[in-house]
Amino acid sequence: MNDAPPAPAPVTVLADQAAYAAAVQLAVDAAAAYYGDGTSPLDDDAYDRLVRGIEAYEADHPEQVLPDSPTGKVAGGAVSGDVPHTVPMLSLDNVFDAAGLERWAAGLERRLGREITAWSVEPKLDGLAISARYRRGRLVQLVTRGDGVAGEDVSHAMGTVVGLPDALTEPVTVEIRGEVMMTAAQFESACEKRRAHDGTTFSNPRSAAAGTLRAQDRAYTCELTFFGYGALPLPPGDASEPAQRLRTLPHSQIMDQVAAWGVATTAATPVAGIVAATVQEVQARIEQIAEARASLPFGIDGIVVKADLADDQNAAGFSSRAPRWAIAYKLPATEKITQLIAVEWNVGRTGIIAPRAVLKPVEIDGSVVSFATLHNAADIARRGLLLGDHVTVYKAGDIIPRVEAPVVHLRTGDEQPIAVPQVCPNCGDAIDTSQERWRCVRGRACRALASIVYAAGRDQLDVEGLAQNRVQQLLDAKFITDFADLFTLTREQLLSLERMGAANTDKLLAAIETVKTRPLSRVFCALGIRGTGRSMSRRIARHFGSMEAIMAADAEAIQAVDGMGTEKAKLMLEELAEVRPLIDKLIAAGVNMTEPGATTATAVADGDSSGDAAATALPLAGMSVVATGTMTGPLAELSRNQVNELIERAGGKASSSVSAKTALLVAGEKAGSKKTKAEDLGVRIITPDEFAAMVSDFL
Ligand code: IVH
Repeated sequence: MNDAPPAPAPVTVLADQAAYAAAVQLAVDAAAAYYGDGTSPLDDDAYDRLVRGIEAYEADHPEQVLPDSPTGKVAGGAVSGDVPHTVPMLSLDNVFDAAGLERWAAGLERRLGREITAWSVEPKLDGLAISARYRRGRLVQLVTRGDGVAGEDVSHAMGTVVGLPDALTEPVTVEIRGEVMMTAAQFESACEKRRAHDGTTFSNPRSAAAGTLRAQDRAYTCELTFFGYGALPLPPGDASEPAQRLRTLPHSQIMDQVAAWGVATTAATPVAGIVAATVQEVQARIEQIAEARASLPFGIDGIVVKADLADDQNAAGFSSRAPRWAIAYKLPATEKITQLIAVEWNVGRTGIIAPRAVLKPVEIDGSVVSFATLHNAADIARRGLLLGDHVTVYKAGDIIPRVEAPVVHLRTGDEQPIAVPQVCPNCGDAIDTSQERWRCVRGRACRALASIVYAAGRDQLDVEGLAQNRVQQLLDAKFITDFADLFTLTREQLLSLERMGAANTDKLLAAIETVKTRPLSRVFCALGIRGTGRSMSRRIARHFGSMEAIMAADAEAIQAVDGMGTEKAKLMLEELAEVRPLIDKLIAAGVNMTEPGATTATAVADGDSSGDAAATALPLAGMSVVATGTMTGPLAELSRNQVNELIERAGGKASSSVSAKTALLVAGEKAGSKKTKAEDLGVRIITPDEFAAMVSDFL
């Protein structure tokens, strides 16, 4: 989808005055909800269509324009506040395709009577506009956009916004404007915290950011992210202030200055702002940004094109609502309305019973969405969902598609209640409904087959020759109940199975014996503890060094593991208590419980820095490394997981996506978009052979 320009959104046609009045009311309600708690009965495309229908009707019937009409107003006239802005915070006009962009650029050049030779092109960040006021380099106030003239004071959020430092690198008096939002990781963490607090989640990152920015007395704190897109001197300020220079600088240089003061801009992201000399170059960058969209760790809803030079901006000026020197090129919405056809209840490896929405397939952010998460039964009830409902569905980048809410005004009366299971859909046993997340009373045992197959899998214990049907046979024969029982299987037991000869038996017993020496990272991963996949398991194993140290750790000690938040640490503790008997069985069977080459947690806790010194001597110490494409040479036989293990043994952090933080990209044959991205970002790129030489001691 992202290769083709977005189709122009059609206009909602309003036939008469009554239809016009109804449309204005709907748009006013939608804007109030969108800018209020971040919910809306309309998706973005539908809202844009509606407002353009209203505009078209008003152009033909200027005498009928209603005072409430959202046209010509910032935020559709929905919000206000009590802190006046020194200079109004305006909206942007929209275009939806290349032709619209060309028309806009040509119109602007006609107006100025000259060609524009510098356009800045940057992502349109999907969050909330905010003004950050710095006096003599100190952050003193945060104000929302509000109605554009005055906004709300949200200074209480200071200190929770990544990218907005308390102090600048120079004592300037300046106002930095930009977007506050949640990255995918911040959003997942915010949902987890809220779920732990009251069982609910946020619908999408934008509404989560809106709610979080306003929230004052929450029992939990959620982190936000800021990216600046403008700066201006903050009055009364002093005329000798360096900030005064901002008035004459090109936009691109203002952004460099903002970054130099220590405030985040998109410069360090794969969609950094650039300056283009022609509209064709602008269009080419738009296509690149659109293509990068689905892999970004934050949401964008378009691309903003601005005349870069201050002279051009001043000559163009403003309309009542928006600058004439800038335009938003909208990308297709990440939130769409579709129909809820059915609800499936699936039992996960740990026995959790989770509902999943089956949707009428809908294209969102470059892929077709047919399923979405529904969290739990209480959440379905709270959202008031019915089968057959039209629902808003959100999907962007890394975020798992989620159902937000029913669109109540589209109900026909044929919708049906959603049936909840009375017994476990997998084994028919009872359901423990004492927590919001329902669980089969048999817990992990309910899905023993899935748990054991997972544990024996290639990236975990890698038990050669143990296929799923063999595991099923072993379970049916009651020779095993969990994967620790594999280690006490006898030759006689195996020989008694159908289709199991002496040769196969000996091979399997030998494979199981080998598995006893796997490193702790793999044994830990095999436990299938929620929230600890391969990469987290490696970090845990390297951090603690032994299972004994892991079992002795409290929540605080667990949180010291890189990437482990409060909620995840709490969950890990609960899960560890649950799998304790399994761990004891593994220890008794003689399975290795240590990580080769790891620093022990006790040494770290005692402030013994010898471990750190050893860590910095490693060839990849502190480096974030990504491997992509087909590995060749000495790495040819390694799975991607094994390459990642190698990276981490050599002191690096293995990552699957390229970002500004990436220090090294190992690009094998047929490396694709990750390599292009690394090139754009100036990340060092090496071949598998060069990499093998670098880490030869660890191969
Ligand atoms: S420039 C007066 N640049 O989009 C110039 N805005 O629809 C207006 N936005 O209120 C702002 N990314 O919240 C600008 N790179 C960007 C932006 C951006 C997101 C938001 C901003 C603005 C809204 C207008």
